[in-house]
Amino acid sequence: MRITRLLFCSLAVLLCVAVWSLAHAAAPQQSAPPSGRQTPQKPSGERLYTDKCEHCHGAEGRGDRGPALVPLKLTFEKFLNQLRFPLCDMPAFPESELSDAAGRDIYDYVKTFK
Ligand code: HEC
Repeated sequence: MRITRLLFCSLAVLLCVAVWSLAHAAAPQQSAPPSGRQTPQKPSGERLYTDKCEHCHGAEGRGDRGPALVPLKLTFEKFLNQLRFPLCDMPAFPESELSDAAGRDIYDYVKTFK
């Protein structure tokens, strides 16, 4: 009876230690960045522009289905207003889809076009 108890206890302890060390051994791997270190992400303005604007305004804002965006003379307020309330053929980008900050990132990116 005593032996069984002792065995049971040590088994339980062993199990705990095993689980603990497994969890701790796995932890550093989980928190390591997913191998994306060598390929840094593009700045968000560029990603957003490529994703949402480029198919109409062309690479580097040269214009395609939409007008050229270079040279961009709009202030940020007017730019953002165009995104929220476009004049005619351009789809609107409400705040739920594109935050002001994201709009700012795109604006700054478009400003880099020469
Ligand atoms: C479906 C095509 C389309 C997409 C997508 C689009 N645009 Fe436009 N954009 C246009 C058209 C067409 C115009 C001309 C005026 C209008 O329709 O409002 C325009 C006008 C503009 C203007 C005003 C230009 C000026 O000189 O007054 C800005 C700024 C602009 N777009 C920025 C953007 C940005 C930033 C995005 C991405 C978030 C975007 N557009 C996505 C078609 C598009």
